[in-house]
Amino acid sequence: MKILVTGGAGFIGGNFIHYMIEKYPQDVIVNLDALTYAGNLETVEPVKNAPNYRFTHGDISDRILLKELFGREKFDIVVNFAAESHVDRSITNPGLFVQTNVIGTQVLLDMALEHGIKRFHQVSTDEVYGDLPLDRKDLLFTEDTPLCPSSPYSASKASADLLVMAYGRTYGLPVTISRCSNNYGPYQFPEKLIPLMITRAMNDQPLPVYGKGINVRDWLYVLDHCEAVDTILRQGKPGEPGEPGEIYNIGGNNEMSNLEVVHILLDILQKPRDLITFVTDRKGHDLRYAINAGKMKKDFGWSPGYNFERGIAATVQWYKNNPEWLENILSGRYLKYIEEQYGAITEKGGV
Ligand code: NAD
Ligand code: TYD
Repeated sequence: MKILVTGGAGFIGGNFIHYMIEKYPQDVIVNLDALTYAGNLETVEPVKNAPNYRFTHGDISDRILLKELFGREKFDIVVNFAAESHVDRSITNPGLFVQTNVIGTQVLLDMALEHGIKRFHQVSTDEVYGDLPLDRKDLLFTEDTPLCPSSPYSASKASADLLVMAYGRTYGLPVTISRCSNNYGPYQFPEKLIPLMITRAMNDQPLPVYGKGINVRDWLYVLDHCEAVDTILRQGKPGEPGEPGEIYNIGGNNEMSNLEVVHILLDILQKPRDLITFVTDRKGHDLRYAINAGKMKKDFGWSPGYNFERGIAATVQWYKNNPEWLENILSGRYLKYIEEQYGAITEKGGV
C-alpha cells in the first residue's frame, strides 16, 4: 500500500511515520509537510534513508502541487495530520487556522476524490466537543456528543470534520475520523504544556501555569495514538456509499489537572515547586476534556498500552537525551537550515 501522511514532520505525524516504517516495511510512506515552525525534518531523520519512505515539501492547500503529487504517486490511503495545532496561536491568528485546517483539508479531500483514494483518514481532536464541567466526572465525550468548539483551533478542526463527513455522504469518499485527547511524548514542539514545562524546568526557568492550574486534560502517550490510527486504517469502517463513515474517539482514560502534571514533572526532574508561576488565564480556556474510548475497545479491542507513569518517564528521558533536537528548534538554527534548503519561507514559517 502507498500511504500519504501529511504533517509527518510534526509531533504526532512524525511518531506515526517511525511506527509505520518499522511495522510495515512493505508499505510506502510519502510524507507531505509544509515545514512550518512546528515541522522539523530532524524528527524524521532516523527514517530518511528507509527504502519505503520519501519526503515532499509542500502545503496541503496548494492545489497545483497536490494534483501533480497525487497524479504521480497513486496513493491508496491518505492520513491527514497536517494542521496548525496550538490553541494559543489560534487566538492571535485565527485566519491561518482556517486556511490550513479547513481549506487545506478540503483541497486534500478533492484530490482524494479525484484520484479514487481507498481511504481518507482525518486526524481530529476531542476539542471539537468543547469542554466538560470539572465537577461532573460522570460526563465523558462520546462519538455522539454534539460539536461545540471553543477556540478558533477547535472550530477549524470541527469544520474540517464536517467537510470530511460531507465528502463521505455526498460523494461516497471512504472516510474515517479519529478524535483524540491530548498527546505527549518524544518530538513534541516545546510550546505545548508538557514539553514546555520539561524544557523550562531543566533550565531552572519559571513554569507559566494558566489561571489556577485546575483545568483537566486526558493524557495519552503518542505511540498509543499511532497504534489507534493504524488500527482504524486497517479495521475501521468507512461506511457504505452514501454514508458518512465512522468516527472513533481515542483517549488515555487518564484525566489530570495541569497542576498535577506539572508537579509530577518537577518531581521526576528533582526541581523545586517554587518554579511554578501562575499567569493570566487563556481566553475561553476549556475546563475539562475526557474521552469515552469504549468504541475503540468494543470494535477493535484497542486500549492504551502505556500508563502515565511509564509514558511520562520515557518522555522526560527523551528530552534529556536529545538536547540538540531542542536546541536547534529553540535557537532558530533549524529554520535557517530550511531556508537554505528550500528558499525563503513564508509567514507560516515564522516562530
Ligand atoms: P504539530 O503542530 O506538531 O505538527 C503539525 C505538522 O503539520 C507540522 O509538521 C507542520 O509543518 C505541518 N503543517 C502545518 N501546516 C501545513 C500545511 N498547510 N501543509 C502541510 N503541512 C503543514 O501538530 P501535532 O501535535 O503533531 O498534531 C497533529 C494532528 O493531530 C493535528 O491535526 C492535530 O489537530 C491533531 N491532534 C493533536 C493532539 C495533540 O495533543 N497534539 C491531540 C489530538 C489531535
Ligand atoms: P496545551 O498543551 O496547549 O494543549 P490544549 O490547550 O490543546 O489542551 O495546553 C494544555 C493545558 O495546559 C491547557 O489547559 C492550557 C495549559 N497550559 C498552561 O497552563 N501553561 C502553558 O504554558 C501552556 C502552553 C498550557
